Amino acid sequence: MTNTESAPGASPATTSAPIVLAVANQKGGVGKTTTAVNLAAACAARGVRTLLVDLDIQGSASAFLGMSPSDDDIDVARCLLEELPLSRAVKPTRIENLWLAPAGERMSLVDLHLASAFGRERAFERALAGAAPSGVALDLVIVDTAPYLGLLTINALVAAQKILVPVSCEYLPMLGLKLLGETLDRLRERAGARCDVLGYVLTMHDKRERISLEVEQLLRNRFDARVFATVVRSDTQHKSAPSHRRTIFEHQSEGGRGREDYTALANEALVRLGLIEPKPARKKAAKKSTGKHGKYKLESK
Ligand SMILES: Nc1ncnc2c1ncn2[C@@H]1O[C@H](COP(=O)(O)OP(=O)(O)O)[C@@H](O)[C@H]1O
Ligand SMILES: [Mg+2]
Repeated sequence: MTNTESAPGASPATTSAPIVLAVANQKGGVGKTTTAVNLAAACAARGVRTLLVDLDIQGSASAFLGMSPSDDDIDVARCLLEELPLSRAVKPTRIENLWLAPAGERMSLVDLHLASAFGRERAFERALAGAAPSGVALDLVIVDTAPYLGLLTINALVAAQKILVPVSCEYLPMLGLKLLGETLDRLRERAGARCDVLGYVLTMHDKRERISLEVEQLLRNRFDARVFATVVRSDTQHKSAPSHRRTIFEHQSEGGRGREDYTALANEALVRLGLIEPKPARKKAAKKSTGKHGKYKLESK
């Protein structure tokens, strides 16, 4: 966990386009939705005006927040199918500074529709250009993506400047990460994508489990500083929070490890994104003098 960031009361006022951060890993069950929702809530709590976009056919991020759209609502799917600006789908949440563009059942039609659409890899980027709700200057868009590399996920990767990759500590991840890396390379070469990996985050980490330590070591050896210092520890409350339609911040009492981990991850991610200043490193405690030439007086105990 990192402890090197400042805690500004509010985000810097931005008039430019928000940064788009896709939470992606084509493997299912690695903690993408849990991370997208709780990271978005933690960023909003820091005063960063954040839009969470649900780009998964299962609409799990929307369900997580208890905001699944009905058939009559305009959701992300309708924006993509009917080429509407995303702002038409955006709704305020009960959390200050957090908006949601929810996804409903029509999402399952979008991949097929995009397959024959002109400029099919950029449909989401076009919709995003009009994402901000009226009168709101967004700082950050966090996109939750589907567990496969279909056109919806490709659209998220093309629209994003940065990718955050959750990696579950429950199995060895290298093959899947290689595929994701190759996909990003191809999208940069052939589809003009400009995204790069903001960081890999270890999820469901349990330091008592050998597999967690193995995955961590493997990842840090391979990706070094691109692996977030913050590790999201395994916590059963992450499993129960979605069925109560609550973020971990609403579900767990203060001091809980889930809250701590996502607060620390948000701080680290926001510094990497340049949205908050790193906290100046704390000065080392004055060394105790050991003799008469010492600069400091001996401290009494
Ligand atoms: N840190 C964690 N500790 C324990 N369970 C977790 C943690 N993160 C996610 N989970 C659980 O793991 C499952 C998969 O997580 P989810 O975020 O839905 O993954 P994905 O979106 O990648 O499919 C869910 O049941 C979720 O509640
Ligand atoms: Mg998911």
